[in-house]
Amino acid sequence: MPVLESELMSKVVSLCKRRGFVFPGSEIYGGLANTWDYGPLGVELKKNLYDAWWKFFVRERLDMVGLDAAILMNPKVWEASGHVDNFNDAQVDCRQCKARHRADHLIENAVPNLKVEGLSTEDLTKLIKENNIVCPECGSKNFTDARVFNLLFRTSIGSLESNTSTVYLRGELAQGMFVNFKLIQESMRKKLPFGIAQMGKVFRNEITPGNFTFRTLEFDLMEFEYFIEPSKWQENFEYWLTEMHRWVEFIGLKQDRVRVREHTPDELSHYSQRTVDIEYHTPFGWKELYGLAYRTDFDLRNHTEKSGQDLSYFDPNTNTRFIPHVIEPTFGLTRTVLMLLLSCYDEETLSTGDGGEETRVVLRLPSHLAPYKAAVLPLSNKLTDKAMEAWKQLSSHFLTDFDVTGSIGKRYRRQDEIGTPYCVTVDFDTLEDQAVTIRNRDTMQQERIGLSQLNQWFQGK
Ligand code: GAP
Repeated sequence: MPVLESELMSKVVSLCKRRGFVFPGSEIYGGLANTWDYGPLGVELKKNLYDAWWKFFVRERLDMVGLDAAILMNPKVWEASGHVDNFNDAQVDCRQCKARHRADHLIENAVPNLKVEGLSTEDLTKLIKENNIVCPECGSKNFTDARVFNLLFRTSIGSLESNTSTVYLRGELAQGMFVNFKLIQESMRKKLPFGIAQMGKVFRNEITPGNFTFRTLEFDLMEFEYFIEPSKWQENFEYWLTEMHRWVEFIGLKQDRVRVREHTPDELSHYSQRTVDIEYHTPFGWKELYGLAYRTDFDLRNHTEKSGQDLSYFDPNTNTRFIPHVIEPTFGLTRTVLMLLLSCYDEETLSTGDGGEETRVVLRLPSHLAPYKAAVLPLSNKLTDKAMEAWKQLSSHFLTDFDVTGSIGKRYRRQDEIGTPYCVTVDFDTLEDQAVTIRNRDTMQQERIGLSQLNQWFQGK
């Protein structure tokens, strides 16, 4: 029986907490809205995704190099990039319960077919009044006017809080790639087209709380800036859209839940001439998973002007000098984790053999991304030493669990629930025939293989 859409989110949230994927941030102090901590299994899933992404887009390509830029940058970077002036959302406060809302989300949730992109704060205020929109927290209609709110987090360097020491936590990774463009191009002797990739934490002072880890105050992002000749932007845009689809397929997201949506001119970010979102159909509607933007020469041109440093490129083939244009594919890592969990969560009804039924929860994560690829399960405590032989073999290649507690049926269920693709069972026959049983998570089929062939069996799995 497929899981009811209305129950899927709460089931995934509950599994995440129960089995160590994601916990509410600082929970023992009552939590902090919009913050989440990734537990032992969440960390592994996130790391596997990040490693796979880095291999897919960086290591297996000659035209891509990596970067790990500082989170804190000279504040002039964010002035030049336009984020200080334009990285804004409009917010309204409920005067009765003091809840703060993003004005566009408030309207969209109450009247789904109203177009709100690009509207001024005056128009948003008017729409809220005209449509009799109420506060989702308390039902009051008593809102403040909409006003603009900058998403950059501010902090200050040193012990004195003054304007001169104000810095921002980065709101996107891209600026690190732009300010290092020249250094990377020259030190790595790169010719166009080439890309600079980065993965790391990004911070945004989001107003609206959002659907578990979907919209958070800090999140992991993986993105690259691909530097091109201006005339080639359309072909590169199409190429990277195809590559993004290939990635979405590679990580095993349900394809019928993925679509591409073009941004309307009103909706485009201040730096973009064309943007498409890759959206995923979540239990709370179609939502942005990834973005692909044509940023023109907006960033390099602005940094050239504001820093006084020449960030142009000399093309030795045509003897021309120009500011490269940029195609930017961007991938929210924490959003990928959430969509993958939603996509892979499954329940099956099984017969218990005595006329009854039980529900098997299975997280059908692809084998290359699952936190544990295998779990070694000795049937008895007395077999622990023998089972350790199998664990030592496997754990030098990938993360392997070892579980001796509970009935074997319960142990299989525990591994199914966290997505472990293979269980390796060690029984008393193992002492005689030096063989183990491998059970497949999805088919539940079992096969017996020699201990000495274990590593070979797992190759390519
Ligand atoms: N450099 C371009 C850029 O940052 P963006 O669309 O603002 O573009 C990129 O963000 C990706 O980051 C999104 O496609 C989404 O996956 C993720 N993302 C954005 N805001 C987020 C938030 N508050 N919480 C979690 N993920 C977020």
